[in-house]
Amino acid sequence: MKSARTCRVGVIGYGAIGVPVVAGITTGRVTGAVLEGIISRSPLRSAPAKQLDLTEALECCDLLVECAGQEALVEHAEVVLRAGVDLLVTSIGALADREFSKQLNAAGPGRLFLTSGAVGGLDLLSSGARAGGYDRVTITTTKLPGSLVQPWMNEALVEEIRNVRGPLDVYEGSAAEAALLFPKSLNAGAAVAIAVNNWDAVTVRVRADPAAELTSHVIEASGTIGEYRFEIRNKPSEDNPRTSGVVPFAVLRSLESIIGGRGGLI
Ligand SMILES: NC(=O)c1ccc[n+]([C@@H]2O[C@H](COP(=O)([O-])OP(=O)(O)OC[C@H]3O[C@@H](n4cnc5c(N)ncnc54)[C@H](O)[C@@H]3O)[C@@H](O)[C@H]2O)c1
Repeated sequence: MKSARTCRVGVIGYGAIGVPVVAGITTGRVTGAVLEGIISRSPLRSAPAKQLDLTEALECCDLLVECAGQEALVEHAEVVLRAGVDLLVTSIGALADREFSKQLNAAGPGRLFLTSGAVGGLDLLSSGARAGGYDRVTITTTKLPGSLVQPWMNEALVEEIRNVRGPLDVYEGSAAEAALLFPKSLNAGAAVAIAVNNWDAVTVRVRADPAAELTSHVIEASGTIGEYRFEIRNKPSEDNPRTSGVVPFAVLRSLESIIGGRGGLI
C-alpha cells in the first residue's frame, strides 16, 4: 500500500468560494491537505489561517488554489508555476485568452489544474473529444438578470436587463468571447470549451430570467461517439449571486483528486 501523501495548500482569495474552501481544508474534509495560509488582497480579520503574501506562499506551499478572479490569475499564475508550485484554478475563463493560455502551458514545473466548478458532464465530454470530437456543442446559461450586467453594456441594455419580466437572451457567441465578456459569470462555458478542447466550436447563450432562482446550464453536444444533454440547476451562493454554491465543494473535490490520498471516482 502507498503511504498517504500530504500537500501544503495556500488559498488565494477569501470570498464566496475561498471561505468555504478554507473551512473545508481546516476541518479535515480533504484527505492529505494541510492549510498553510491565505493570500488575500484585503486584511483578514477572523480567518482560521495566517495571511501570506505570494512570496511567502511560494516558499511554504506545494499547491495554491485560486479563488480570486481572472485578474488575480493573470497576475500570479505564471510566477506560481515557474516556482514549481501546483495551481488549482477556479477562474478558468481567463484561459480564453490564447496568449495567456499558451504562456501557462509553457510554464512549469508546477502543474496547472482546472476545477470543474459549477458544471458536470465534463468528464464524458472530454472522453468524447478524444474519440473523434463534436459537430455541435452549445451551452445555455440562465441567471438572475442583475448578475449578468457588465461594465461594457450600454445604458439601454442595462435598463432592459434590469427591468426584464421574462426570459431575455442577452448574448450568443463563442465560448472564448463569452468568457471575456462575462468574466465572473461564464466560467461554465469555458469549462465546456476546455473539455471538448475547442474554444471556437462551443456556442454560448446567456439568458437573463427574473424567475431563475436557480442558475441553470444546459449543455448539448453531438458527435461521432454519441449525443449528450446535461441540465444543471445550481443554487447561487448566499455570499455572491454570480457564483453557484456548489463551486467550493467542487474545488475541495478537485483538491482531493490532485493529492490522491485515497481512491474513488475520478
Ligand atoms: N469555475 C467555476 O465554475 C466558477 C464559478 C464561479 C466563480 N468562479 C471564479 O471564482 C472567482 C471568485 O469567486 P467568488 O464568488 O469567491 O468571488 P468573491 O468576490 O466573493 O471573492 C473573491 C475574493 O478574492 C479576493 N481577491 C481579488 N483579487 C485578489 C488578488 N489579486 N489577490 C488576492 N485576493 C484577491 C477579493 O478580495 C475577494 O475576497 C470568480 O471571479 C470567478 O472567476 C469560477
